Amino acid sequence: MSASNKSEELKKVTDEISVCVKCPFSKTRTNTVPGSGSAEAEVMFIGEAPGFHEDQKGIPFCGAAGKFLDEMLEGIGYTRDQVFIANTLKCRPPENRDPEESEKEACKPYLERQIEIIDPKLIVCLGRHSVATFLPGAGGISKLHGHAVKRPNGRVYLALYHPAAALHNGGLRSTLIEDFGKIPAILKKIVDTSRIDLTAEDTADKSTQQKLL
Ligand code: URA
Repeated sequence: MSASNKSEELKKVTDEISVCVKCPFSKTRTNTVPGSGSAEAEVMFIGEAPGFHEDQKGIPFCGAAGKFLDEMLEGIGYTRDQVFIANTLKCRPPENRDPEESEKEACKPYLERQIEIIDPKLIVCLGRHSVATFLPGAGGISKLHGHAVKRPNGRVYLALYHPAAALHNGGLRSTLIEDFGKIPAILKKIVDTSRIDLTAEDTADKSTQQKLL
């Protein structure tokens, strides 16, 4: 798909999200938070759900966790405009409560379409909810963090701790920064290797997932 087609297709998804009434969050949200960044991004970052600030502005990761994310992006030579940042949910759950399964299911097609349009080389899952969405059954985040995993759908996912969880926890913070620093090498490996042929000793589902780094 050409760059302009990708932008057009992404806009269609954004427009649909803006009028979505598929779950009860439509009654309590201030703004939808479809995601933002480049339609041609090599890397997509996917968090959990919009919080207070995101709901107010309609922009993902625009609070304290977002500032930390921006700093880590800068550390590996990216700006926000060069990547795509989104969440598994497009609206803030009231009081930031955990979403019901039906609410997650209702929202899922939007993110799936965004991924298909952007077709990133790497999807970075921020936090355990995002990891559970994309790497179900692969193990907890404490085991998976910092590992890139190729799934049978051909996509490569990197599990990272959530910036909000790491913000005020020195240990997690340094682990997250270290894991984040692996992104350029993982991207290089994805580009360099048409056939990824590494072992999966750290993943539970060894037959279907391949560890990259
Ligand atoms: N936490 C998330 O998971 N997403 C946001 O957009 C903000 C905070």
